[in-house]
Amino acid sequence: MNSKLGSIERDARVMQVYEQLVEIEQRLIPTGLHIFGRAAELKEKADLLRMVASFDRPERGVRALPKLVAQALQIEGYDQLLQEAPTGETRELVDGIVSESIRTFCESDANTAAVWLNQKAGVAVIESLPTFSLLASVAKQLDSNNEIDSLLRALRGEYIEPGPGADIVQNPEVLPTGRNTHAVNPYSVPSPLAYARAKVTAEALLNRYREDHGRYPGALALVLWGLDNIKTQGEGVAQALWLLGVRPVRDALNRATDVEVIPLSELQRPRIDVVMTVSGIFRDLFTPTMTLLDKAVRRVARLDEPLDLNYVRRNISERMKEYGSKFDDAVTRVFSNAPGNYGTNVNFMVMDSQWDTAETLGELFVTRKCFAYTRDNEGRTVEGREAPELMGDALSRVEATYQNLDSFEVGITDVDHYFEYLGGVSRAVETRTKSRPAIYVSDSLSPQTRIRSLEETVRLETRAKTLNPKWYEGMLKHGFRGVAEIENHVANTFGWSATADSVDPWIYTEISRTFLLDPEMLQRLRELNPHSVRSLTKRLIEAHDRGYWNPDEDVLERLRDLLAAPGVELEQVVGS
Ligand code: BEZ
Ligand code: MG
Repeated sequence: MNSKLGSIERDARVMQVYEQLVEIEQRLIPTGLHIFGRAAELKEKADLLRMVASFDRPERGVRALPKLVAQALQIEGYDQLLQEAPTGETRELVDGIVSESIRTFCESDANTAAVWLNQKAGVAVIESLPTFSLLASVAKQLDSNNEIDSLLRALRGEYIEPGPGADIVQNPEVLPTGRNTHAVNPYSVPSPLAYARAKVTAEALLNRYREDHGRYPGALALVLWGLDNIKTQGEGVAQALWLLGVRPVRDALNRATDVEVIPLSELQRPRIDVVMTVSGIFRDLFTPTMTLLDKAVRRVARLDEPLDLNYVRRNISERMKEYGSKFDDAVTRVFSNAPGNYGTNVNFMVMDSQWDTAETLGELFVTRKCFAYTRDNEGRTVEGREAPELMGDALSRVEATYQNLDSFEVGITDVDHYFEYLGGVSRAVETRTKSRPAIYVSDSLSPQTRIRSLEETVRLETRAKTLNPKWYEGMLKHGFRGVAEIENHVANTFGWSATADSVDPWIYTEISRTFLLDPEMLQRLRELNPHSVRSLTKRLIEAHDRGYWNPDEDVLERLRDLLAAPGVELEQVVGS
């Protein structure tokens, strides 16, 4: 190899590794479970407060601290830098000053921190004080925990004050906890802010696909959840509208009930076909939004535009030509469960090891989710017509699947719902197209929007959580439940193998080494929760049996020995 080129490549590689390390290091992770009625400790709060301080909040007159610091240091183009470079000297300089100012805040108070920031970076006190005052109110509310009191009042049938549902970083107004969570007015969705943010995410998603494939995807399948769209005031909905190239229009009552087409000359890219698989909760909470999405697809499908710039129209006219389908059928893109039904059951099938071939999981997804919610040509509402062939056809053109991740608190291996939805739809697409779609997850909450492939996200979550001593030691403080959480994470990771083949074999190897092949750790886990140790062991062996990893024979032997070993049999545990 040319040695000059070799050293350039080596440097680039070192830089990539460095960026990945920074990404893992900066990832905000829960370090333990919430204990009902107990306030978080201050040191756990520092990271959270840093994130709260990373966003402009114009509604409160609060500026993001990193931006204030960058401005005071006269760093040009900092916003651009945020989007483009996750690391680098300038980012480190700014982040270092911000972190130090948060530490100062935690050790003293808002004024002291604002003065410190003025002395250190020249940020005017009057500019940073509103941000530190917000942090002071967040810190105070985190300390005052009303959960037990509220629960007792609720049990006595008394009134519980309502509050919005979100995570603290998204909306500090969720504090104090222990209130009755309320949703949003569905007609307000998407909010102008959500629509503005969604543009960045939708463009980043398309850019990522183009980097990977050299062109735009012919169709995308999106997963939309109810709680997420409450928390973000409809960012997922707005992303769908952007991909189609339309903007929401509000009526005289300020309700988002219509859409307006963004001209191609302004959009500067083709309109992307989107298939929306919508959770039962979304369907129940966002009925008018379902209509809005359906309306948007229909509007775009009828535009008199070149087929190579309007993929919705192209796909629908192909369908009508090939199969003689009616427009009303070919245009159906919003699918959910049958009325009154929820979930895909893919997670239950995976957890109970009840499937034979990979296709089974995708077919279960379609069986559960193939109910069309639309309006026919005469404007009559169709609520939940079973239409597996329409969904199958729409999915057969999909080249990428996607879900927006919008919470610092819950990631793709924390719960089984991400793999049941995003994994389930991806498998259904794969069966129909005979090739695995590109699968993406966005992280729309960080100041810089990141689109990652599913594989990258699984690696990141594994390193930041499952294999991170900070995370698992935090869990182990909770004893029995903590071991169950570790086991859950492994089972959810396994779910990504089952539905999307997106788990590197080393992940299973490292999980085995960390939790089962280290005698000291094994002993600790067994003493706390032998049931979960057994399930974890079985899961790793099942991962081998299903071909998701191929460990050395001696590793497999040791895992099998663990199952056979005394002290872990349920009967023995119960009997002891
Ligand atoms: C939802 O908010 O729509 C949702 C929540 C949990 C699991 C699946 C969907
Ligand atoms: Mg659940």
